[in-house]
Amino acid sequence: MSTLTSQANARPARFGASGPLRGRVRVPGDKSISHRSLILSALAVGESRVEGLLEGEDVLATAAALRAMGAGITRGADHAWHIRGVGVGGLLQPRSALDMGNSGTSARLLMGLVASHSITCAFTGDLSLSTRPMERVILPLSLMGAEFTASPGGRLPLMIRGLCPAVPIDYRLPVASAQVKSAILLAGLNTPGITRVIEPVATRDHSERMLRGFGADLTVEETGGERIIAIRGEAELTPQHIVVPGDPSSAAFPIVAALLVPGSDIIVENVGLNPTRAGLIEILRAMGGDITLIDPREVGGEPVADIRVRSSALNGIDVPLEIAPAMIDEFPILFVAAALARGRTVTRGLEELRLKESDRISTMAEGLRAIGARIEETADGLIVEGTGGERLAGGATVATRLDHRIAMSFAVAGLVTEADVTIDDMAPVDTSFPGFVDVMRMLGVDA
Ligand code: S3P
Repeated sequence: MSTLTSQANARPARFGASGPLRGRVRVPGDKSISHRSLILSALAVGESRVEGLLEGEDVLATAAALRAMGAGITRGADHAWHIRGVGVGGLLQPRSALDMGNSGTSARLLMGLVASHSITCAFTGDLSLSTRPMERVILPLSLMGAEFTASPGGRLPLMIRGLCPAVPIDYRLPVASAQVKSAILLAGLNTPGITRVIEPVATRDHSERMLRGFGADLTVEETGGERIIAIRGEAELTPQHIVVPGDPSSAAFPIVAALLVPGSDIIVENVGLNPTRAGLIEILRAMGGDITLIDPREVGGEPVADIRVRSSALNGIDVPLEIAPAMIDEFPILFVAAALARGRTVTRGLEELRLKESDRISTMAEGLRAIGARIEETADGLIVEGTGGERLAGGATVATRLDHRIAMSFAVAGLVTEADVTIDDMAPVDTSFPGFVDVMRMLGVDA
């Protein structure tokens, strides 16, 4: 048994067949936007205010690290967060190691930030994060002048010694990663001259949108199918009032639950629908999902809508390669939808899924097989033979391997099984979706 299958304070839970889901719910703030709102506010001169911040463990790890480097971060009685920034280049030497917990986004973005400051610090993380590759940020940040002493395989725990002034680079991303892109852009903020990131495949663009919103000089050019993002360093950022939209990656769980449980009709309010994040909705609709967007609007520079979902007979689908970055965190729950669809769902080109909080290809294959789904695992994806709407057998315990999205995916799968599904540990859900079980209960789930 891997060490990632158990933790001392594990919270097991059971989920069983559910009656129709009904009602209106909200999901917590977007995780990616929440991290970025804290980071950029911490670099502005003056006080920013953030409403709707995700108060999950991952974002709180970013907040704690920024505080340790001098930013003032408090939560007001009005639930808004108030951040007193230190100005670009003004971060201070932290007095102890920065603990990133389970959060790859915190680790990679904050390493970018530290890389162009004259500070030296240690980054640590939990067992899951300490198996994840950091070489992808170490390499470009080293080119900018930062020095790293990492654990074997380029992993946490590691030490970074930043350089100020750092050296601007032009860097073509070898993997489609918004975290790597953002790490370089954040390093570039305090670097003289122009730092450029070339993206052969577009990834989520929250950093670009928000950097512009804070007044950074950032341009995006599209040539020959590539995006060239250029940021002028030694910027001065002005404080902002940010409203964080609901996280589409969290909304994905009640959305798929409502599609799968017969007779369901729900609305998830205020969901972010940035095109670089909305791939799952497109795929579920193509599978026959009855999903309508109500009152599309803009909140804090991001497109948002309420999403109505009615239960639907789904068909299997061949998921096009190019949509993967726009739904990279949604494959675990898509595999659950596919397991109940009519016919075969084929996914490929998903090597990156093996490097998330767990190896999401093998963890999902293992868990879905345990509850009776027909799954073939390939090097870069899963092939799922759906039941055509018949419930899965269930009656097994599923290992979540410190991965929040695995836990929530199997909680949803449990709603459409003959015998209850036991999740070995729901605790990781607090990293991204505190209140997940409450939201499901509000929709009528007996959990
Ligand atoms: C994120 C980018 C994605 C995603 C992660 C959040 C971000 O990771 O999986 O949950 O906020 O930039 P990669 O950059 O590794 O693809």
